[in-house]
Amino acid sequence: MNSKYYNRRNFIKVGALGVSSATLSISSASDSSGSSTKPIIISTWDHGAMANNVGFKLLTDGADAIDAVQQGVMVVESDPKVRTVGVGGYPDRDGVVTLDACLMKGDGSCGSVAFLRDIENPVAVARKVMDETPHVMLVGAGAKKFALDNGFEEKELLTEASKRDYENWLKRTDYMPPINIENHDTISTLAIDQNGVIAGACTTSGASYKYHGRVGDSPIIGAGLFVDQEAGGACATGWGEEVIRTAGSAMVVEMMRNGKSPQEACEAIVKRINERRKGKEIQIGFLAMDTKGNFGAYSLRKGFTYAVKHKDEDAIKAATYLY
Ligand code: GLY
Repeated sequence: MNSKYYNRRNFIKVGALGVSSATLSISSASDSSGSSTKPIIISTWDHGAMANNVGFKLLTDGADAIDAVQQGVMVVESDPKVRTVGVGGYPDRDGVVTLDACLMKGDGSCGSVAFLRDIENPVAVARKVMDETPHVMLVGAGAKKFALDNGFEEKELLTEASKRDYENWLKRTDYMPPINIENHDTISTLAIDQNGVIAGACTTSGASYKYHGRVGDSPIIGAGLFVDQEAGGACATGWGEEVIRTAGSAMVVEMMRNGKSPQEACEAIVKRINERRKGKEIQIGFLAMDTKGNFGAYSLRKGFTYAVKHKDEDAIKAATYLY
């Protein structure tokens, strides 16, 4: 572990940076051939550019991929303007913001927290679980106690904006969480560092107005995220129930191990999900990257964007899609 980059107090507060320093050209992409050079970082959605800015700076300074993805997604967790992750995330149907997050290295090291309340950076707690416990996953009150015992501070995650939206939602009679087809959701990030090590992180406030206690795909190793040093990494965004049912990210990585390109593997898992649940009314997107830095992205519906950063490119791209 490179503690220089790991220390939570060294977390680079660049939320205000937003995505402004990225080259925000939107371009259609399929089967993108990534840079053969390292390092490289890719992240879901437009807000992925914020994570990439921070993560890529660390990578070029020599940080480990696991530190780059963690520090990158922490910026998004801490930004109250991002309404689907961390502070400012939409609450559940009882008005409580609960967070899910995980991270994983190519050697199989991983940590996860789920149904975590009142902690700004769940991915940093997941990192503690990975580094300092014999376990992979802590949930709920136990995860919060672990965080507080390890120096994390309690924070109100429900912002005025989220509270206002929740109160409006309460006026509705239906109890289905809205399906997120907007251009934001879980932040999932994959990176390869200068040593060729691959890692990923994934963090979310989950489906808005979900049942209290609902956990999505994002903290589940193999569903929202899977990374393997031999085959590559994959991560997901969107309606987590279908990603869990298909062990989505693990499947994508196994497909790459068996010869599919990252793009082909992303397309195959989305089409498999679509066969199970003709899913025009939901959105699901996958990112994948092999260990050479070739990457791919594909979603069920139009609208999934992702951010890419390496020495030759700094861009937000539109993923290809089924519908
Ligand atoms: N993909 C985020 C969730 O379903 O919770």
